[in-house]
Amino acid sequence: MRLLVRDLAQLATPAGREAPLRGAALGEVDVIDDAFVLCDGETIEAVGRMRDLPSIAGDVVELDGRGLCAVPGLVDCHTHAAFGGDRVEEFSLRAAGASYEELHAAGGGILSTVRATRALGEDGLRAAVERHRDWMRAAGTTTFEAKSGYGLDNDTELASLRAIRDAGGVPTWLGAHAVPPEFDDADAYLDFALTEVLPEAAAIAEAADVFLERGAFDAAQARRYLAACRDAGLTLRLHGDQFTESGAIPLAIELGARSVDHLEATGDAGVEALAASGVTGVLLPASALFLDRPMPPARTLVDAGAGVALASDFNPGSSFTESLPLVCSLAATQLRLSPAEALAACTVNAAHVLGRAGRIGRLAPGFRADIALLDAPDWRYLAYHLGGRVVDRVIVGGELA
Ligand code: NIG
Ligand code: FE
Repeated sequence: MRLLVRDLAQLATPAGREAPLRGAALGEVDVIDDAFVLCDGETIEAVGRMRDLPSIAGDVVELDGRGLCAVPGLVDCHTHAAFGGDRVEEFSLRAAGASYEELHAAGGGILSTVRATRALGEDGLRAAVERHRDWMRAAGTTTFEAKSGYGLDNDTELASLRAIRDAGGVPTWLGAHAVPPEFDDADAYLDFALTEVLPEAAAIAEAADVFLERGAFDAAQARRYLAACRDAGLTLRLHGDQFTESGAIPLAIELGARSVDHLEATGDAGVEALAASGVTGVLLPASALFLDRPMPPARTLVDAGAGVALASDFNPGSSFTESLPLVCSLAATQLRLSPAEALAACTVNAAHVLGRAGRIGRLAPGFRADIALLDAPDWRYLAYHLGGRVVDRVIVGGELA
């Protein structure tokens, strides 16, 4: 089927073909006023100005884009969408002054979600991931990554990865998220995870991730976990510098990781090291906001030439939001990124983190026809409309979703 979206107020897409975009190139967006997008099946055939619209032979479905702006379907490269239950009680306790780390140390936090996720069973997990995918899609996300990490036993970790894959997501094995209660220490748990879970996890997941932090896994444990995952063929990612600088950036560089995510605690040396490397820094400002933590040094990272992406960190404990438009608003108001930089960071650069920058993240011929249509006269409403319903609808693989 061919689909023509016509008479768009604007179409905006990160410029060029490079990925990841760094430095000044991160802020270069091509904007076409009075635009069209023509999709042929799953793929974009052409984009341009209405006055240059070619005559189209054969059947074509037309969609009226008046009053709308088209941007690439958003790419969420860091979510924890495979979870059961909620943490609304903990949220209320935090509002009354308890800290996230205290709740975690007291057996709440991640471990309370582990209990709720294990109780779901495979069908329940599938339903949860599909529900969360639909929330994300309504907010403009057409490609999502999701991590396991709330099972921490063989069955629930593998069921989480299958549920993510079957819901159309990109699965990451977060086997080293926390030490589950049936193990006395992190090393004993890693012995189990790497022997019992990794072989099958590696057949489903594309990447592996670790929570490198005080109270979770230390640098030596993270190195051991990630090296085994790399040897099993997985791309490497890290949760690092969320609360403390615990060596995540040097380790990511040493192991050739794809990304290091969070970075709220990263100092100048970390910024410099990351900028000189091929590791992308994934910034999660909604998580910093939700936990009332300092924002990551985004402006310094971009100006130093680091590759950065933006993501939601959607999860029940530290970032209960599926909205990348909200993340773009936070980027523009808290991280001092321009709307153009925010757009590139959650499209092209996020696609790079997921190893898909040649196919998604841009509106250009040959790219997948994944499009977010904004209910806005100017595409920058993506960041400007704080918390609003800015996404009118999405097109996924050439079909209205
Ligand atoms: O990215 N920091 C570790 N993991 C998640 C939070 C998980 C949770 O609190 O349930 C994060 O913030
Ligand atoms: Fe996370």
